Amino acid sequence: MTSMREQAGRAAERVLSSKRVLVVTHIDADGICAAALASSLLDRAKIKHEVTFLKKLDSAAIETIKTQKPETVWFTDFGSGAIPELSGLNAVIADHHVPAPSNPSAAARRDLVALAEALDGSDIPHVNPHLEGRDGGTDLSGAGATYLIGKEMTKSSAELAHIAVVGAVGDLQDREGGLAGTNRAILEEARKAGVIEVVKDISFFGRETRPLHKFLQYASEPRLPGISGDEDACIRFLIDAGVRLKEGESWRRWIDLSRGERASLSSRLKGLLEDNGIKAELEREVYVLPRETPGTPVHEAKEFATMLNSCGRYGKGDVALRIAKGDRRESYYAGLDLQDGHRRNLVDFLQVVRDIGVQRRGLLQYFNADDMIAETVLGTVAGMALNSGLADCGIPIFAFARADDGVKVSARGTRLLVEKGLDLSELMRLASEKVGGKGGGHRVAAGATIPPGTEEAFLGAAEVILKKQMGG
Ligand code: C5P
Ligand code: ZN
Repeated sequence: MTSMREQAGRAAERVLSSKRVLVVTHIDADGICAAALASSLLDRAKIKHEVTFLKKLDSAAIETIKTQKPETVWFTDFGSGAIPELSGLNAVIADHHVPAPSNPSAAARRDLVALAEALDGSDIPHVNPHLEGRDGGTDLSGAGATYLIGKEMTKSSAELAHIAVVGAVGDLQDREGGLAGTNRAILEEARKAGVIEVVKDISFFGRETRPLHKFLQYASEPRLPGISGDEDACIRFLIDAGVRLKEGESWRRWIDLSRGERASLSSRLKGLLEDNGIKAELEREVYVLPRETPGTPVHEAKEFATMLNSCGRYGKGDVALRIAKGDRRESYYAGLDLQDGHRRNLVDFLQVVRDIGVQRRGLLQYFNADDMIAETVLGTVAGMALNSGLADCGIPIFAFARADDGVKVSARGTRLLVEKGLDLSELMRLASEKVGGKGGGHRVAAGATIPPGTEEAFLGAAEVILKKQMGG
């Protein structure tokens, strides 16, 4: 085993002794935060650099990088799965994905440590929680791994620690009651530096920017019986609670409510859950960025990450990078527009699901959007369908759409289903392999790409696996 600190020290040395660095990162919120950290650190060290965003790091992408003959390449949020292919490059890696071979089963985790030890022989400085026997899904994000290198590059790294928190939250690493492990240590550094505040608040998404009734309408985890998914019911609920919906012309948001209004709404919501026999926490840890303006998406980690994702999904990694690095002018306004566009797209795509309908098939349900939903937001749409009452939230949902390299499949479940045994990561990996595709992800949310025409066979395989997981 190798310590992350030791690897980070080697990585920092290699980066700091370079005149020019190519940062290559994954185009999701975590990857964008990782690149923002790397770029800010390189700025401080006055090292020239460029940033390249990729959807995935495959052999073709690695070949392209090699033809550019870069002096030093800093891979963030991927790279661990491709170490054998990186030979010849003067590289460093900050990642948290499972080291190659890609996507082994959970049972192979112990072998992974052995594998990690073997990879140790590579001369590439490589920061990854798996190499310390930690869980890359919850212990540390790609941004966090980059931050660990930053700590070895400069004494003032804590000033940037909030970006590592946003990256971790963007990868849903706070899903089990808050950030833990190495993430927790980074969170503590961020708190001490005054760049993050940890508060207990309602668990729904959009406390900063969503109008109150929308905030409740899209509530999931926990779902609000009779309210989630029903805009009119949300408005009635708020009026019954004596909460004004508007302040002048503007919709009020959770953050606009007085302490008393929040307490009264929370207790009504708790009552609603109790009346329906639902035992669920209404509150979670929320990570606030106190140096940002309240009521903006960059004031809270989850909304911040979502904003970065909305840019990334539309190929605007450069815009997202500048926002993550602190631009609150041009790129920030472009980001707000992209986010608005993303929200409008989601509404349109949900209408597509309504139009084509969700088909039930045994223990699962699915829809095939073909070319009517962009594959980059298919998972988000499937999740919203599940949580908005459009689909049955008692069984997992599978969504298909056309992609460049085959048929994209996204699967979404709920926390309750996971507690009952659902593991969509395993299911997507196995079912896609069965039909000649590839997939993986998390228990509650996973994706795959399969060859066109294999949808039926894929669903058949998924059903068999699902039966096993759910004990039927
Ligand atoms: O694309 P989608 O949003 O459905 O992906 C859900 C999760 O599954 C993500 O964490 C993604 O990284 C993962 N995934 C994967 N392999 C794929 C597709 C998605 O591991 N082929
Ligand atoms: Zn990541």
